[in-house]
Amino acid sequence: MPEPLKTGDDAAFLRIGDREVKLPILVGSEGETAVDISRLRSETGFITLDEGYVNTGSVTSAITFLDGEEGVLRYRGYRIDVLAANCDFIEVSYLLIYGELPNAAQNDAFRSAIRMHTMLHEDLKLFYNGFPRDAHPMAILSSVINAMSTFYQDSLNPHDPEQVEVSIHRLLAKLPTIAAYSYKKSIGQPLIYPQNNLEYCENFLRMMFAVPSEPFESDPDFVTALNLLLIVHADHEQNCSTSTVRMVGSSDANLFASISAGICALWGPLHGGANEAVVNMLERIIEDGLNVKKYVDMAKDKNNNFRLMGFGHRVYKNYDPRATIIKAACDKLLAKLQLQDPLFEVAQQLEKVATSDPYFVERKLYPNVDFYSGVIYRAIGIPVQMFTVLFAMGRLPGWIAHWKEMQDSSTKRICRPRQVYTGSPIRDFVPIAQRR
Ligand code: CMC
Repeated sequence: MPEPLKTGDDAAFLRIGDREVKLPILVGSEGETAVDISRLRSETGFITLDEGYVNTGSVTSAITFLDGEEGVLRYRGYRIDVLAANCDFIEVSYLLIYGELPNAAQNDAFRSAIRMHTMLHEDLKLFYNGFPRDAHPMAILSSVINAMSTFYQDSLNPHDPEQVEVSIHRLLAKLPTIAAYSYKKSIGQPLIYPQNNLEYCENFLRMMFAVPSEPFESDPDFVTALNLLLIVHADHEQNCSTSTVRMVGSSDANLFASISAGICALWGPLHGGANEAVVNMLERIIEDGLNVKKYVDMAKDKNNNFRLMGFGHRVYKNYDPRATIIKAACDKLLAKLQLQDPLFEVAQQLEKVATSDPYFVERKLYPNVDFYSGVIYRAIGIPVQMFTVLFAMGRLPGWIAHWKEMQDSSTKRICRPRQVYTGSPIRDFVPIAQRR
């Protein structure tokens, strides 16, 4: 079990005018240190300002440890590469949500509970008729997940453990069905119902690619690759979407609403949407005559807002360990399929040029999780618009784990940052007829 948060022997001292304030130093179980400012405003009237939360710890959490300088990532103490090599996605989901790897009985019970809920309510399916056929599947996903709170009003209470439990099972079970149906709808094919004798990833691939008139069997290499991708995406501590899930859940909003908000946050190209943006960028480079250096130069040009998508990370100042795992899996899968994807070639060239360029070296910008994942998705046959949906499928257990950790915490408070106001001072009201 992780060691609890300790108060360090040292304290930090803050001088404000002629006052000195003593601030406790807290130490996490991996030796991470934080200055505790929770009483700063009540004692001094001052707040701290940290746009983008670059230096702000919003919570203490026992779920995921990452060391951005060393490129380390562990879920509940287990190394990500070890989990990726030995577990499937459902086992890792259990680990994240409940804190321990499941024993055989727990594993069976968890899988059966999820299987019970894989189908969509037939009325929920009607929602899909209201969306334009070319709607982005992330918009559909977040809408339909939020709509689950209208269908499952029996499980909305965040303080009732049984209701939370059934919501967890429903979400894990239905998200792949919802995702696959958004794809089927976009290409005019019928919904393929889940087949519950199949494991999670196999079932999803079948719902994506089978048609009612033909037999279907998933390629076991695709199933393995998909499990690996979902595992490496499963959690990443207080990232933008997870913080959003916590923020929304902190008001005691139900789990469906909180996850739906997380999906919206993930969609942006600076976060999960980067996997789609990477492939678009690589295709653009190929169409533009494979001039890799031109794009590296554009990314360095401060007058150009182009960035190398799939490069850089708020926390990693080293190679993202997830990118290492995904790149190796890419290599293996393409070799096995005897596929030569020009996108993989150009991605490797881009990595080589960028990582030897002083601009990227000085700023410690390396490929992140999104840089190579699209190449695997493409090899599996996943369309580009669905890439971020796959990220959401992977991140779901992480979001749930954080939401649950927050709800179970005795110190939970509504998340409500403060601000420094920079607007107009008080003004006299001017009636509309006198306004210029
Ligand atoms: N291409 C070119 N320059 C970059 C890049 C990039 N991809 N990323 C950062 N920089 C530069 C940035 O211009 C700044 O330079 P300077 O110090 O001269 O002003 C410096 O590096 C620091 O960047 P920042 O924007 O202050 O860093 P941040 O921590 O606020 O942003 C990031 C992190 C991931 C949003 C950013 O690196 C980025 O936009 N990357 C491209 C999008 C991307 O791949 N996102 C996926 C992130 S990993 C998966 C996930 O979280 O979902």
